Amino acid sequence: MDLVIRNATLPDGRQADIAIDGARIADVGARLPCSGAREIDAEGDLVTPPFVDAHFHMDATLSYGLPRVNASGTLLEGIALWGELKPQLTQDALVERAMQYCDWAVARGLLAIRTHVDVCDDRLLAVEALLDVRRRVAPYLDMQLVAFPQDGLLRSPAAFGNLKRAIAMGVDVVGGIPHFERTMAAGAESVRLLCEFAADKGLRVDMHCDESDDPMSRHIETLAAETHRLGLHGRVAGSHLTSMHSMDNYYASKLLPLIAESGVAAIANPLINITLQGRHDSYPKRRGMTRVPELLAAGVDVAFGHDCVMDPWYGLGSGDMLEVAHMGLHVAQMTGKEAMHQCFLAVTETPARILGLEGYGLAPGCHADLVLLDAGSTVEAIRLRAARRLVLRRGQVVSEAPRARASLALPGRPRDIDFRLGR
Ligand code: FE2
Repeated sequence: MDLVIRNATLPDGRQADIAIDGARIADVGARLPCSGAREIDAEGDLVTPPFVDAHFHMDATLSYGLPRVNASGTLLEGIALWGELKPQLTQDALVERAMQYCDWAVARGLLAIRTHVDVCDDRLLAVEALLDVRRRVAPYLDMQLVAFPQDGLLRSPAAFGNLKRAIAMGVDVVGGIPHFERTMAAGAESVRLLCEFAADKGLRVDMHCDESDDPMSRHIETLAAETHRLGLHGRVAGSHLTSMHSMDNYYASKLLPLIAESGVAAIANPLINITLQGRHDSYPKRRGMTRVPELLAAGVDVAFGHDCVMDPWYGLGSGDMLEVAHMGLHVAQMTGKEAMHQCFLAVTETPARILGLEGYGLAPGCHADLVLLDAGSTVEAIRLRAARRLVLRRGQVVSEAPRARASLALPGRPRDIDFRLGR
């Protein structure tokens, strides 16, 4: 074997060695008899397949403050601000910022990102830039692009034509934003048109859907129904779905099984939802994240996305999907032991399934893409936003980081602190 990782704890809690031959995992099991040209002792730490971000905006990332900061903190001012920035964008600046973000992602063990790309600029500058970035980072990061009509498919006159051009240029997924169309009817019409286009082209769909506190914003219902009608089961995701937070419980009890029946996945964006939603409330202020535990209980795949890092909508973030899982856990009050573990799956296995990533996982034959964390379990990883001791891509180390440690100078107390229990 080229590499054997000894004494790993897997996400499901099993202790195992992982043997890697070339770019693939060859074997996983307790005390493997093989030897490796290189051996790494994980010392009981967690080894996981890489983090996956199911929802991001790579064209806007790291543009914070350009040309100004979002004063109201609302989604709509963010969209207006992005509109001010768009004419000033250059391809070089877009590529440079995206490449820098991908560096951060790799250092965080984030090796697959689905990013929306705005197609409402007739130049399709951002599409060309992100196609270039996708090609450049392909050796170490999987990027999936979603053609996103930010200004509305029907509201922006050239949007559908631009979206079709973007798909022809190599963009992977069909996006949408029905809650931003002029009327509910136009929103539903946009969902129908986009799903029919995706079905015709054999593409996946991922729509920004019902990103508001309006309980009557019910485009997810149309998205599920169109998915069912067109046989798109397993290929469609609804992103945000924040209006579900504010919906009447009876209606939600009808909607949840409809989503499950259609095989539509849900992508919540906890950092952004808790920040952008509830802005029109006084007190109490709504959390504004979709109904994650209830969706999971209904059998729906739910992933947590990062959505934004230092852009017109959000001024923080660093590509750390454990920070995303940490916020999701808190906002959804998923504090049970199994629920906390599900929050880890929401930034690893579940988004990998939603993106349809080939060769993802810890089974023999999967890509040797792995992250060794400074934590003993998935829950501890979330609690500590654990350091990524090693990040492997196709069997090669692409990033290393030291354990998180502090040295105390207190009489009678231990010197070394690692924030871990039971060691
Ligand atoms: Fe988004």
